[in-house]
Amino acid sequence: MKDTACIILAAGRGTRMKSSLPKVLHKISGKTMIEYMLELIKPFSFKPIVAVTGYKGSNVTRLCKGAKTVSQKSLLGSADAVMSARSALSKFRGDVVVLYGDTPLIAETTLDELIKSHKKTNAFCTFLTARMKDPTGYGRVLRDDADNIVRIVEEKEASLYDKAYDEVNVGAYCFKSRYLFDALREVRNDNKKGEYYLTDIIAIFRKHDFKIESVSTASEDEAFGINSREELAKAEKILRDRTIKKFLDQGITIVDPANTYIDASCRIGQDTVIKPYTIIEKGVVIGSDCVVGPFARLRQGTVLTDKVEIGNFVELTRCNVGFGAKIKHHTYIGDAVIGKDVNIGAGTITANYDGKTKNKTIIKDGAFIGSGTIFVAPVVVGRKAITGAGSVLTKNTSVPDKAVVVGIPARPIQKIHQKRLR
Ligand code: UD1
Ligand code: CA
Repeated sequence: MKDTACIILAAGRGTRMKSSLPKVLHKISGKTMIEYMLELIKPFSFKPIVAVTGYKGSNVTRLCKGAKTVSQKSLLGSADAVMSARSALSKFRGDVVVLYGDTPLIAETTLDELIKSHKKTNAFCTFLTARMKDPTGYGRVLRDDADNIVRIVEEKEASLYDKAYDEVNVGAYCFKSRYLFDALREVRNDNKKGEYYLTDIIAIFRKHDFKIESVSTASEDEAFGINSREELAKAEKILRDRTIKKFLDQGITIVDPANTYIDASCRIGQDTVIKPYTIIEKGVVIGSDCVVGPFARLRQGTVLTDKVEIGNFVELTRCNVGFGAKIKHHTYIGDAVIGKDVNIGAGTITANYDGKTKNKTIIKDGAFIGSGTIFVAPVVVGRKAITGAGSVLTKNTSVPDKAVVVGIPARPIQKIHQKRLR
């Protein structure tokens, strides 16, 4: 969007988080709030994007790829934060979207609606509102009898009468940039917090008879601003529920959604069943018709093809698991390639890390791994080979196809020329 710029306010310390970390660097499902905000705006191709940083600003700047960063000298309030971005937009004349760095739950569709509505109505300011069951803490949107927006009043400044309003300011605005910066000069800090509130701009626009419009969120969850650890935990839950719903809608069975953790970036094929207390981390790919869990942990770099079965207390990291393979009990497999129809017995472990490097274990198609086998990687197990229960395959072992190895260190006892014994 060439004619639309974006400012993200991320200078605040987040005092209520009680943390040495700037607020926007707190993570939800492994990702910082500022990253969520940057992802939210990505599809809109705003130009330029300006992130306002302040408290421990360099730590925030590092994550703001693709954005100009400006620093707010003293944290005097959200209006002052927007003013700090002015120099970065000195030649800019279009619309400017202003977002807070602590509202990572706004949906892309909602932001799209906000911008489209702003352009369509030719308003001077369009901002996002939400109806909240409990609006405590948020700026309340006050309207007159004709439903026109009069002003936003902050919680601290609100009378008992104002507090009865349940329509809140979410913190996403679209402005005609010139009027925004002119009006910002009129914002005063004569309030209880002694801050320059960006929200005062609404009353200023009204005074000048500048057209103000609003758009409402589809759900109140989107409006959720994160100021405390409790709110951080609630946001985690909301995002987790959204992700689970996405997978359920794609035809995956999740037996106990409340006790299943799946990163939003994972891909899962149809008719796969995820059993309770399972954790599936960033970027994991699972094929169709698999069964995973209960109590399984699939870590980054893991790819399961179709019809794979992963059972309880199995941890997989950086491995590829072939069609129909079974790894069902108390197992750790790291840095491995597991072939088609491999069966891994209970208690099998890859010793993949020798203190310096991570080494690979390759188990070829149809191999049968006895319970309690230890692979001191690098190790290769041939097609349809068998390892005896409790065997230890020492470093650089290569088991030929169809061989049977047993013991510590594992040695071959016979070659199977006939059909595999199973
Ligand atoms: C703000 C809004 C409130 C709204 C709520 C939604 C104001 C005055 N109030 O309140 O109407 O309902 O968000 O979540 O805007 N920031 C700076 N520099 C500053 C102060 C703030 O960059 O000097 C940034 C913060 O990092 C944060 C954002 O502005 O990302 C909002 O500030 P915060 O203190 O969280 O405002 P709220 O009290 O939540
Ligand atoms: Ca906030």
